[in-house]
Amino acid sequence: MMALHIQENVPLAPLTTFKTGGPARFFCTAKSEGELRQAIEFARSRRIPFFVLGGGSNVLIPDRGFFGLAIKNEIKVTQFIERREEVSLVAGAGENWDALVAMTVQKNLYGLENLSGIPGTVGAAPIQNIGAYGVEVADVLSHVDVFDAEEMKEKRFDVQECMFSYRNSLFKSAHGKRFIITAVGFVLKKEGQCRIHYKDLALAFNDTRENITPQKIRSAVLEIRKQKFPDLTECGTAGSFFKNPIIDEAEYLNLVSRYRELPGYPEKNGKIKIPLAWILDKVCLLKGYRKGNVGLFSNQPLVVVNYGNATTEEIINFTREVSQKVFEAAGLTIESEVRILGEIDLQFATQVIHSSS
Ligand code: EPU
Repeated sequence: MMALHIQENVPLAPLTTFKTGGPARFFCTAKSEGELRQAIEFARSRRIPFFVLGGGSNVLIPDRGFFGLAIKNEIKVTQFIERREEVSLVAGAGENWDALVAMTVQKNLYGLENLSGIPGTVGAAPIQNIGAYGVEVADVLSHVDVFDAEEMKEKRFDVQECMFSYRNSLFKSAHGKRFIITAVGFVLKKEGQCRIHYKDLALAFNDTRENITPQKIRSAVLEIRKQKFPDLTECGTAGSFFKNPIIDEAEYLNLVSRYRELPGYPEKNGKIKIPLAWILDKVCLLKGYRKGNVGLFSNQPLVVVNYGNATTEEIINFTREVSQKVFEAAGLTIESEVRILGEIDLQFATQVIHSSS
């Protein structure tokens, strides 16, 4: 087996969509499970932490950089397996998410079309259970293949074992951090029903409810996204920075008594999900709010933007200020959706180091 090429002091900012943060002390790409194993062994032998980078579209790297090994997951493969009414698709973690969606849509397969236009890689999709326009990746996923960095062996999790919920999964939990996703399996349908119940999509298909194909959904979603999200080639962003709060009915009713128009979407557990964009826009009047190089996007205030040469610290301070304002105005405690490389990840790496010593 070829020796892994480990680089030193590699800037990570260009590998993230926020375009901030410092370098990695060590860096390598992993194009296969074998290379992933070698990379983890390198980190173990040096007793340094590691973390895995996909498309860098949901992570903030600290300005001081990362003193361990950053592993860019570039495991690639796409395999379509024909079944009767379905097609199984297995894709490598390092594949580009939207290129995969485009490929399925081109084959007229139903399942991933609502998730068009999301930046990032296939391997990152299950970690936060990406979701948009009425579909979550958990709805179409069959299994996730991982490399267990503690036991140093491959494992497969079926969809139940992944413990998916809104923007959450096993892979985000402290226990699940040891599992590095290598491939994801999906079940797609040859004939299907497009899902257009999400408000923006329903509006887009208002007059024409017939002959809606995955291709038409994809085009509509890409069009909606163009209106709502900044162009990634022009500024830094990681899409929604915060999660939409999920609150008790009593708390929801209390808010509605103050803000009569506040939308609310019932969750399976009896709780209610509210659009934070609405609170930021209508309650906090923060739409387009900007401080120096950082701001809330003028078309979608849930989106935090690096307009120029922002540092990670500026972004974090800005988002803390926004959280504080939301708490003061609406009494809501909000959580970030974007991961900040830091304590949690390092704790995970420490665990790995301990288990090898
Ligand atoms: N709204 C406003 N003012 C605005 C924008 C939105 O009041 O300027 C209100 C409206 O009531 C609107 C509601 O907020 O109906 C929801 O807005 P939107 O449909 O844009 O969705 P979102 O809840 O803000 C979520 C996801 C996005 C995903 C969209 C579409 C999260 C954290 N974000 O945003 O995902 O694309 O739905 O399904 O759940 C991401 O995770 O990075 C992401 C972009």
